[in-house]
Amino acid sequence: IANVPSLWGVPLKYISLVTLAVQNSLLTIIMHYSRVSIPTSRTYSAATAVLMNEILKGSISLLIAFWRVDLGNVLINFDGQREGGCRRMALAKIKRLGREVFSADCWKLSIPAILYVIQNNLQYVAASNLDAATFQVSYQMKILTTAGFSVLLLRKKLTSTQWFSLLFLAIGVGIVQIQSGAAQQRLSPDAHMMDAMRGFIAVVAACFTSGLAGVYFEMVLKNSQGDLWVRNVQLSLFSLLPCIVHILFSHESQPVAFGSPGWFRGLFANFGLWAWGTVLVQVLGGLVTAMVIKYSDNILKGFATSLSIVMSFLASVALFDLRMTWTFVIGSVIVLNATWMYNQPAKRFGLMTGRDIKG
Ligand code: C5P
Repeated sequence: IANVPSLWGVPLKYISLVTLAVQNSLLTIIMHYSRVSIPTSRTYSAATAVLMNEILKGSISLLIAFWRVDLGNVLINFDGQREGGCRRMALAKIKRLGREVFSADCWKLSIPAILYVIQNNLQYVAASNLDAATFQVSYQMKILTTAGFSVLLLRKKLTSTQWFSLLFLAIGVGIVQIQSGAAQQRLSPDAHMMDAMRGFIAVVAACFTSGLAGVYFEMVLKNSQGDLWVRNVQLSLFSLLPCIVHILFSHESQPVAFGSPGWFRGLFANFGLWAWGTVLVQVLGGLVTAMVIKYSDNILKGFATSLSIVMSFLASVALFDLRMTWTFVIGSVIVLNATWMYNQPAKRFGLMTGRDIKG
């Protein structure tokens, strides 16, 4: 912890974990509200929202990466002083950052970038068709996929307790799902109609992309030298193409045909305060996820998200008039317990490889 940066004396590790928990619940609620409470004819384009997310996140990461560029011996004179004005220093920084961003191994980020774009779009489908709490609990299955891909790709070893906890997790999610079949609800007479099956398929697919993208990103981060913020910039750059392809080919985001006048403005049709709010919370999530991966680990990230289940559930009861059913309570308790069980032994010997222990 001595080397871990802190803010007002609190290690960034804990700040990022708590922020992630709050961000997770906020995103579930705001995304659900921004999609479900608005008539279908006035919904904003999810594809545009995902593109805006990547552009904003990439720009913020670029600024942080620029600020962090270490010029080393560049522009140092014989007296050990840095010479040249602000302009020369800025140019030197831009040159070095450009070399880092377009490094030989930057292509590696293309894989998680494509997966995250798919995941971010699937999240909108899930949030539009499941109530906020069911979405949040079902999304916990990503612990299972993350574990599977960690074993497959990173050759991590799981204890028997962790395998059991994964089984409980699947059972808990299944129980929570029982209630969502009955959760087809309308918030206003012309509000968006929810399709629980469509939402569930989207959330399962998002769990797979989350697991694979997360493990792949971890592999790239741990097996190479690049700065985290530079990696984030690369991730956003590679996301741009799939985001644009989705915008061009998705009917949902094309109120005006491509090439016709007003096409660009059409992308932002109905893109109001709620849409921008959702994008901003997602941007915060991307940045905080990156920090959590850097300053703590995926195991603690699981804790943060399980805490957010409780937060979103309580908020859903208060904001969306969600009725608490026994199946929901039992399912959520099993999911929370499974998350707790999974994380317990992992601290001592769970997800550690020989290389981790040496490091
Ligand atoms: O649910 P999960 O933890 O997989 O979500 C990760 C989210 O964080 C995705 O929306 C992804 O786009 C974002 N992310 C990011 N930068 C990273 C890692 C993840 O923006 N370096």
